[in-house]
Amino acid sequence: MFITFEGCEGSGKSTHTKALYQHLIQMNIPTVLAHEPGGTALGDKIDQWVKHGEKLSPETELLLFAASRAQLLTELVRPSLEEGKVVICDRYSESTLSYQGYGRGISLNIINSVNSIATEGLRPNLIILLDIDPVEGLARKSGSEGDHFERETIAFHHRIRNGYLEMAKADPKRWLVIDATQSREEVAVIIWQKVRILFDTAEKEFSS
Ligand code: TMP
Repeated sequence: MFITFEGCEGSGKSTHTKALYQHLIQMNIPTVLAHEPGGTALGDKIDQWVKHGEKLSPETELLLFAASRAQLLTELVRPSLEEGKVVICDRYSESTLSYQGYGRGISLNIINSVNSIATEGLRPNLIILLDIDPVEGLARKSGSEGDHFERETIAFHHRIRNGYLEMAKADPKRWLVIDATQSREEVAVIIWQKVRILFDTAEKEFSS
């Protein structure tokens, strides 16, 4: 079971990935939590470069995020899935489509090709989009200094949100869109209801 979380800045992904992870661990379900970019020695360096280093071209950004993803899949995601663990990932391929594609303007076909090299076609069973107006999301982060992405124009962040919503609309079976302005508890309940259905369905398919 591979579940990813997506969303604009300040949408609450890190809170809810951790909450779901803890919920599953408490139920004795072997689960791994990952975050992109990062999660490996290489990925952690890339995280620093793309967020705080010198300004990069969109294409360089695309390839660095893909390199981080390829390494994370090799070191953590694929081995964990093969061991039967649930993998929760805070951002995945759809972040590249929204940020480098809808946001920076690189062709979505090119990004899909690069993503399929990085992931060898591994797709999440469920993509949870925590949807929030970028103005509200960025306001939640206003206390921190911010990285290159957080300091982008509001138009950039609107393109990202619209990109996410467009992708979710095109593949509603795989995506769950949640209004992230609801309380933390309300969002957690919606996530858990969906994940439980996914588990029940998988269990039925396995036992039949
Ligand atoms: P975060 O650690 O706060 O999620 O920050 C990661 C930043 O990197 C966030 O602004 C989104 C951006 N990003 C991309 O632009 N493309 C990608 O493929 C990924 C994974 C993240």
